[in-house]
Parts: sequence; structure tokens; C-alpha cells
Amino acid sequence: MLRTSSVKTVNLGLIGLGTVGSGVVKVLQKNSASIEKRTGIRLVLKRVAVRSLSKKRAVRVSRKLLTRHPEDILGDPSIDVVIELIGGIHPAREIIETALRNGKQVVTANKALLAEQGEPIFGLADRCRKKLGFEASVCGGIPIIKALKEGLASNQISHVLGIVNGTCNYILTGMSQEGISFGAALKAAQTQGYAEQNPHLDVDGIDSAHKLAILARLGFRSRVPFRKIHVEGIRSLSIIDIEYAKDLGYGVKLLAIGKDTSHGMELRVHPTMLPLDHPLSSVKGVYNAVFVHADQAGDLLFYGKGAGMFPTASAVLSDIVDIAKRIAGQADLKSPRPVKLADKKVLPIAEIVSKYYLRFQVEDKPGVLGTLARTLGKHHISILSVHQKESHDPRSVPVIILTYEAREKNILKALRTIHRDGVVQEKTVMVRVEQ
Ligand code: NDP
Ligand code: HSE
Repeated sequence: MLRTSSVKTVNLGLIGLGTVGSGVVKVLQKNSASIEKRTGIRLVLKRVAVRSLSKKRAVRVSRKLLTRHPEDILGDPSIDVVIELIGGIHPAREIIETALRNGKQVVTANKALLAEQGEPIFGLADRCRKKLGFEASVCGGIPIIKALKEGLASNQISHVLGIVNGTCNYILTGMSQEGISFGAALKAAQTQGYAEQNPHLDVDGIDSAHKLAILARLGFRSRVPFRKIHVEGIRSLSIIDIEYAKDLGYGVKLLAIGKDTSHGMELRVHPTMLPLDHPLSSVKGVYNAVFVHADQAGDLLFYGKGAGMFPTASAVLSDIVDIAKRIAGQADLKSPRPVKLADKKVLPIAEIVSKYYLRFQVEDKPGVLGTLARTLGKHHISILSVHQKESHDPRSVPVIILTYEAREKNILKALRTIHRDGVVQEKTVMVRVEQ
């Protein structure tokens, strides 16, 4: 048991009391005594900034702590750690930068900001020799940032690939397993606090791309120009293709795929078909999983809840405790020498090589299959299997072709030719397939 005199107090200023902020306060209320017992550090919540003072909160917070002005926290010399949980680019960036300049340590869950404008912020933290914790920015409760930064420090990482958006995985699970509509599943994800304030970031793949940018930066030790990540969301996925994929032994997931190859980095987010016995296929609901291939450690799979109040608060608290230990002198507070990052090339999506699921809507008449196969062949695309579904309307019959590995630009050229020649009735569905 630690004597009170040896207890070190670390003062916290929280900006944002929504899903994640409320979770942080609840965890502090529940576990700060046990954290103090274990570490000898008393975490004290000194001030909480919000937009509305009258809003009903998910957690009880003394009215005296609340302010509408983040400057009350940023300018308070007694506050050691600023926790930014408002999200978005502005004023989050100004808040973090002011906190660093004012000598505060900073914790954030703001993947959008770090992915899109992270370099100057990381640079400022280095120059100010302050810690910037961002464990909560990727995959909620999974300690993937620490694993990449510390646990795998001696490795060269070539693949970081995973399901990194809880909302999309929750929607896809609801659609494929329970027959719930896209809209109803999204609504449920919002009610649970999984979705971003603007859920377009989730369903259009942008949140996954934000997380991929952060993972690739750490894993591949390169700056990542966010706009070069290829991004597709789940909005255009139809239940028909999810069902056909299932018949063929595949599930459909929104994957974030990062590969560090000798030609450059592949960075892409899109719906992906995976064999039903693939480890990522069993990741359901709000769960996330990240597969990492590291040259020394080999294949690793990280799994856990990717969004929501408590998993995300757990990650925020992990940064807070880490920083508090440094403040208390239990570890070095000075930032180590900043990691030197490369500027690796990002490969255009047209250059990737993948297997493909193609669904053509064609007229049921002799010669159509032959035309499809010939055109694909002319573009160096080899067919793995062909499946024709029965249809009550012979004018539009679905023909599904799975291909062997092909270069994306050849697939796109072949699809353009097939459309131009009037072989298909509607836009062909193309889903990339990972093994
Ligand atoms: P919410 O929308 O639930 O909460 C945002 C909070 O910020 C609200 O309390 C709001 O105040 C406050 N706020 C907004 N603008 C200001 C401002 N200018 N000054 C002071 N307070 C402000 O968001 P989440 O908690 O869901 O997300 C917070 C961050 O965590 C985001 O960056 C998000 O991407 C990230 N994140 C979220 C996860 C999740 O599962 N929800 C998981 C991982 C990361 P008021 O309540 O008064 O409106
Ligand atoms: N909206 C995000 C998700 C929150 O659904 O995964 C966690 O980062």
C-alpha cells in the first residue's frame, strides 16, 4: 500500500463530453482509486469543456467543472494533460497546438485530424518535447498503436490489413446475417455511439482511410499523403451481391489494406470478399481486427471492440496513465529523438493486382458468355469460375465471374469494352477478392 505522501497528482483537462468523453469520466470515476493504488498517481479531472452547458449528459459531472471555453483549460497552468475529444479538424487542431505550445501533454482520439493534417502536429509535439497520445484514434479498445510503436519496434512491417470501422462492420453483419436494411443498421450503430457525428465518414470509407493512414505511417515508417489513399465505402453494396458471395463461400467486409511493396505502398479501402473460413470473416458487429505481417514476429492478429464508449475510453486512459507515469517520474518524459520517416510512393489503384468478383447483367441468349470470356481473355484476365443465376426475366440474367489475379487497369479496360459493345444491361458490379 502506497503512503499518501508518495502519491503524485496529475491534473486533467477534458475537452468534449460526448460518447468518448463521457466514457473517460466514467472510467475515471470507477477506476481511478485502483489506478492510484497500482501506480501511486492520482488522476484529477479539473475541468471539462463542452459546447452546451444545459445538455443532458451520460455521466454525472459537477456543474463547477464545466465550461464552454476550451481556453479555460488551455490557459490553466495547473492542468498537466489536455484530452481532446471533440473530433473534426477545427477547432480541434488549434486546441491541440495551443495545448502543446502551453506546455501540456496531449491525448486525442481524433483520427481525421491526425490522418489529414498530422505532420505539422507531430512536428510541433516533437519541437515542444511533449507527448501526443493517440491510441484511441484507431480501433477503439485494441492497443494497436502501442503494438506498432513499441511491441514490433525491431520489425519491418509489410502488411497491415483489417476491419477498422465498427459502424460498417456492424451494418454489414446486420445486412448479411439478420437481413436488416442498411438504413436501420446505420441507425442502430448511431444509437450505440459507434458512428461519427457525420456518418458519411463511416459508410463512405473515409474513417477507415483515416485509420489506415495512421497505421501505415507507423507500420511502414513513411509519411502518408491522405488524398492518395483509394477509398470506396459500403453504400453501393447490394444485398444481392452479399447473398451471391455467400453462395460462393465468401463474406463481404470493408477492409483497409496497406502493403509495403518494392514498387511502393498499396493503400486502399473498399468492400472486399473474403473466404468464409478466413479469420477476418468471423469478425462480426462492432468488432475490429487488424492483421499485421512483421518480418521477425510473423503473422499477428489483433482483435477487439473497435468503437463505443468504454473500449475507446480504455484506449484514452491507456495514454493518460502512460503520460501520468512520465510526469510522476516513473518514466522519461522527454520525447525520444523523432522517428525519421520516409516518403514512400503510393501505388495508383490501377496498378494493384487482385482477384475479382464480377456480376454482369446480360440477356439470356446464345453467345453472351463466350463474348464475356473472350473480352476478358483479350485483356489478360483468366477466369477462375463462372456462375449463372436463374432469373425470371431472360432480358437481364446475372452472370458471376470470379477471376484469377489480374491487374486492375486490365479489369477496368475489359469492363469498358463490354459496356461499349452493349453486352450488359447495367453497370457491372466489381468486388475485389482477398485470400
Ligand atoms: P461526440 O459527438 O459524441 O462528442 C463530441 C463532444 O465534443 C460533445 O460533448 C461536444 O459538446 C463537444 N464539442 C464539440 N465542439 C466543441 C467545442 N468547440 N468546444 C467544446 N466542446 C466541443 O463525439 P465522440 O465522443 O463520438 O467522438 C469524439 C472523438 O473520438 C472524435 O474524434 C471521434 O472520431 C473519436 N472516436 C470516437 C469513437 C466512438 O466510438 N464514438 C471511437 C474512436 C474515436 P456538446 O456535448 O455540448 O455538444
Ligand atoms: N466511427 C468509428 C467506427 C468510431 O465506427 O469505427 C471508432 O473509431
